[in-house]
Amino acid sequence: MLRTRSSAKCRQQEPGVSGSNHFDSIAEVFNKVWHFSDEYKDFVISHIHTDLDLQPSDILADIGGGTGTFTGRLAREAKLSRAYCVEPSPAMCSEASKIADIVPICADAHRFSTMEHPYSKLLLKEVIHHIDKRERFWERTFQRLPDGGKLLIITRPRKIDFPFFETLKAAFSANQPDHTLFESELRSACFQVCTQERTHTFTLPKENWFEMLRHRFMSDIAPFSDEQIEEGIAEIDRRYPGNTIEIADRLIFITATK
Ligand SMILES: C[S@@+](CC[C@H](N)C(=O)[O-])C[C@H]1O[C@@H](n2cnc3c(N)ncnc32)[C@H](O)[C@@H]1O
Repeated sequence: MLRTRSSAKCRQQEPGVSGSNHFDSIAEVFNKVWHFSDEYKDFVISHIHTDLDLQPSDILADIGGGTGTFTGRLAREAKLSRAYCVEPSPAMCSEASKIADIVPICADAHRFSTMEHPYSKLLLKEVIHHIDKRERFWERTFQRLPDGGKLLIITRPRKIDFPFFETLKAAFSANQPDHTLFESELRSACFQVCTQERTHTFTLPKENWFEMLRHRFMSDIAPFSDEQIEEGIAEIDRRYPGNTIEIADRLIFITATK
């Protein structure tokens, strides 16, 4: 059973903070169940550096920054002037508050966009599908960014290559808007948009992958019961013989520049 914890250490807790976010329930184990390997993190981090053209003078806001793992590395490695981890789940935010060099803010994307904190670069990694009424968010972000300021969305295609069971693939696809929707929203908000697809392929012991599924490492898995997940794992086990499993993580990087 996973435990949740309080948000006592969070810098701010405002309206726009999650009450029942799935990520509250996996905050403590999030870093263990999500981040596949150091190689995977290096791959993503290096592209964020380049796509956002991070400079020491930059102030970064990592929207839906979770436990702040990526925010912290970017802050240190790019020697950023400041880095906010903006996270509505109190439990995730509490984990982020343990990381040096970052400023955790317990708020969702909309709430943050009404705050006064200045920023020059914005990261939205694996969070965009959780943000509703995005037109208003893009409009405010465009106003707040300086000329030349950038935002980067990292998301996945609707048809995912992960070794999921069939009902989970369907659930993922139903929850995931097509990335071209984000591109057109950004163009309508006057951003210049550039999209790249990049794939990171790696091999995991099958048991590790099954543990990630049991921990409901993605919010799309949350509605499935323990029994459904075990049936799904048996389906995957039949489809992929052997003790290891190859995982191709196809990621879409959308850079928008003011
Ligand atoms: C899959 S996690 C990604 C965390 C982090 N970006 C990373 O890649 O490690 C998605 C995060 O987005 C947060 N989130 C959900 N809805 C949000 C919203 N409306 N605004 C900002 N963050 C949100 C969740 O609480 C969760 O921590």
